[in-house]
Amino acid sequence: MSSVIVTGAAKGIGAGIAEAFARAGWSVVAVDRDKAPLEQTAARIGGTVVTLAGDVADRATNDAAVKLAVDRFGGLDAAVGNAGVTLAKLIDDSTPQEFDRLFSINVKALMYLAQAAHKALGKTKGSLTVIASKTGLVAQRDSPLYCATKGAAIQDRVGRPVPGDAGRGLHHRCGASGRRRVHRRMSKGRLDDRVCVITGAGSGIGRASALLFAREGACVVVADVDRAGAEETVKLVHADGGKANAFSADVVDPDDARRLADETARTEGRIDVLFNNAGIAGVGTLHETSTELWDKVMAVNVRGVFLVSKFVVPHMIEKKRGSIINMSSTIAEIGLAQRASYAASKGAILALTRAMQVDYAPFGIRVNALLPGTIATPFVEKYLRESYPSREEGLKAIRKRQLTSELGKPEDVASAALFLASDESSFVMGSGLFVDGGVRGGK
Ligand SMILES: NC(=O)c1ccc[n+]([C@@H]2O[C@H](COP(=O)([O-])OP(=O)(O)OC[C@H]3O[C@@H](n4cnc5c(N)ncnc54)[C@H](O)[C@@H]3O)[C@@H](O)[C@H]2O)c1
Repeated sequence: MSSVIVTGAAKGIGAGIAEAFARAGWSVVAVDRDKAPLEQTAARIGGTVVTLAGDVADRATNDAAVKLAVDRFGGLDAAVGNAGVTLAKLIDDSTPQEFDRLFSINVKALMYLAQAAHKALGKTKGSLTVIASKTGLVAQRDSPLYCATKGAAIQDRVGRPVPGDAGRGLHHRCGASGRRRVHRRMSKGRLDDRVCVITGAGSGIGRASALLFAREGACVVVADVDRAGAEETVKLVHADGGKANAFSADVVDPDDARRLADETARTEGRIDVLFNNAGIAGVGTLHETSTELWDKVMAVNVRGVFLVSKFVVPHMIEKKRGSIINMSSTIAEIGLAQRASYAASKGAILALTRAMQVDYAPFGIRVNALLPGTIATPFVEKYLRESYPSREEGLKAIRKRQLTSELGKPEDVASAALFLASDESSFVMGSGLFVDGGVRGGK
């Protein structure tokens, strides 16, 4: 069983955090200077909670908390420095004693906790989370010293990560919500703490991927030209206890592509995964295809991948790591009727993927392509309307060419994208992964 120390656990956010851990099956050392409310909270929570009454500004309290975790639970897996006090006074009204007390509890205690916990947490695992505050980033009226302590807490966390825990504790930037958040952050996901940009995530495959990536611990930037679609995806991710932000961007527009890359890197600190998923269909034989349709399909499906990658890659090069997934299609490898512009665009993506891989391998960046068959999404609904006399007739024709006799689901492609995004595919480079229900296998 995992164990955690939560300071300031008698009431408020600390009590909520202790409760969430206990509910998730963790053993909790709950620390607070107010003994009676602490005991009441522990009794209310139930589960495996031991209490320690003490002042976190005293180094001995933090040492005792770690000793308690080790003695009673056999070790320590996480610590949450939550205890804090406020001071609603301007600087000229504040006394040196108030200054010292505020910084002792809100800042120095974090140092004591980190130092006490560090050895017990181990070198390669464990999590130290500091409950800082938005007021450390954006000033709050009438509380300058309190804001300063929270700014210090944030800086401390960023500057001195615990091994195996880099960057945790600042997820509010990616819009986490819901009480399941703590549980998710502590679970071992395949994309824990990865910052993932998914274009075209306001619908279909992109939406399913956003949900799956977030479920696996990622912070997902949901980019789409359709703002309402992107916001709906974010709502679904939040309802599922995950972390996501909506980003309104047209991948064809260089300014939008640059903004998407630079703003994400600035607010989230890095970009670990780019899933170039946005795309549109183009129906028609070559001689029937208008030059406008040809240009539009090429613009979204190829130029869009070029532009977003162009601005994301420098951020990945800087960190010497990254995984880029480009959305191609089975049609890049097989001929299908009336899809000239679309097939050309997806063939270009497969070629581009290999070229990118060669160039970026020295920088620790993997580039792979996904080649889905026919997947039941709004995209295919449109194609069915435009390409067949009736929807049913179209579905019948498509089912006939599948070895599964059925269309794929967005989740089928999302699972393949997750594999390419995660470290499980660390030896997969410049590949095209088919997710096509056996279309190429014939029948
Ligand atoms: N559904 C399939 O059968 C299938 C098969 C192979 C490949 N694909 C590819 O998978 C990707 C996703 O398709 P889907 O089926 O989920 O489609 P979808 O229509 O459900 O979703 C596509 C999303 O891309 C967004 N988008 C379109 N143009 C954009 C632009 N200029 N900038 C930003 N966002 C834009 C749309 O708003 C939409 O939310 C596409 O690249 C498509 O070509 C789909």
